[in-house]
Amino acid sequence: MKTIIEPFKIKVVEQIRMTTREQREDILNRAGHNPFLIPAADVLIDLLTDSGTAAMSARQWSAVMDGDEAYAGSRSWYRFEETVRDIFGFSYVIPTHQGRAAERILFSTTCRAGDVVPNNTHFDTTRANIEYRGARALDLVVPEGRQPALVHPFKGNMDLEALRAAIREHGRERIPLIMITLTNNSGGGQPASMANIRGVSEIARSHDIPFYIDACRFAENAYFVKLREPGYSNKTTTDIVREMFSYADGCTMSAKKDGLANIGGFLCTNDARLAEQEKELLILTEGFPTYGGLAGRDLEAIAVGLREVLSEDYLNYRIVSTQYLGNHISEKGVPIVQPPGGHAIYIDAKAMLPRIPPLQYPGQALSCELYRWAGIRAVEIGSVMFGRRNAETGEETPAEMELVRLAIPRRVYTQSHIDYVVEAILEVYARRETMRGYRITHQAPFLRHFSARFERV
Ligand SMILES: Cc1ncc(COP(=O)(O)O)c(C=O)c1O
Repeated sequence: MKTIIEPFKIKVVEQIRMTTREQREDILNRAGHNPFLIPAADVLIDLLTDSGTAAMSARQWSAVMDGDEAYAGSRSWYRFEETVRDIFGFSYVIPTHQGRAAERILFSTTCRAGDVVPNNTHFDTTRANIEYRGARALDLVVPEGRQPALVHPFKGNMDLEALRAAIREHGRERIPLIMITLTNNSGGGQPASMANIRGVSEIARSHDIPFYIDACRFAENAYFVKLREPGYSNKTTTDIVREMFSYADGCTMSAKKDGLANIGGFLCTNDARLAEQEKELLILTEGFPTYGGLAGRDLEAIAVGLREVLSEDYLNYRIVSTQYLGNHISEKGVPIVQPPGGHAIYIDAKAMLPRIPPLQYPGQALSCELYRWAGIRAVEIGSVMFGRRNAETGEETPAEMELVRLAIPRRVYTQSHIDYVVEAILEVYARRETMRGYRITHQAPFLRHFSARFERV
């Protein structure tokens, strides 16, 4: 059969409030033309993020009911710890309320001012946590990963030569750890190959530098390895995951992605001394080491989600349905980051709207138009988010790329929702000549994309 069906039946539904174009124009005006400021109830299809937005399964909900809320040593903790150890293979598991808390604890215990941390591409919170320590976050993705239109199976790979050069330049003592982000979210949700992960590990080990994986989308990455890397098509995703993590000394994880949960995360290590320090910090800011800021029911939902996400029927549906959206719009000429990533499609707004200059924010214009036209919420990843602004002169430097990300929540939308999104994007694409840029009327000094207000030029 050619049709890939959702490998689940729907047991509980949530109403979507339908809106008219006129209502949305008004909502957008009230939100200062910033989709972050639109109430979720006014959104028809919400593709703002795949983080914490998954639909939980009946098994997860029943595990939630079985949550043991004991402060110390709850049954839910032991179930969670056993699952994480079994899948990822690390000796010490430290629960956290989400991914960035794991990052903060990891970098607080390992990183000092003046250090350098290489990664394929640091996710914003990872970068921010490293910079907060006074260290430098170095992005060493392969050159193919920086070319949106180029098709390559593993655009999330780390440039191994650049990694060796960075170690020579900065010295082993200034590199507390090397990281790889699977999949590479900031680079378009692109995977890294097993050969590349092994290569990074060998370099790290030969210099006695710990190697960590940002595991947020570990199952999606493993499935891409199965589909695309010679020698892996007959292995199970679970075995591929075990091999991937056998090369690492630890990981950080946001369970809001491939944990199929709405909150949670963890930090793992094989280093007993480091685990002790991390637990001390955990107690100070997150909670006792057997709950780490989570309820027992959250630990249960994650433990079940981590097993469900490894189902190959699920992963096939996940990867194929994301590709379906990407391929259907790119076939009709919409420029996207190629090939489609695991969790999201990125439209290249600079290529789609060449008449709108980068500092009139073509990505913002496109995301507002998607909302106005069809009630779809996406996010600009371009000069609004990453443009640099000189605080004294107010002068701005645009970002390298002007993208709009359509992130697909896990198990939430059906084929017909995605068909609606395809139709809407193609209609907006056909009207692209009529679209105008934006100017900012209000902005905060940091992370302005969350609260900025805009008007049309
Ligand atoms: C690659 C990556 N790392 C880390 C994080 C941070 O996780 P959290 O949002 O749970 O703090 C995210 C979140 O989107 C991510 O995509």
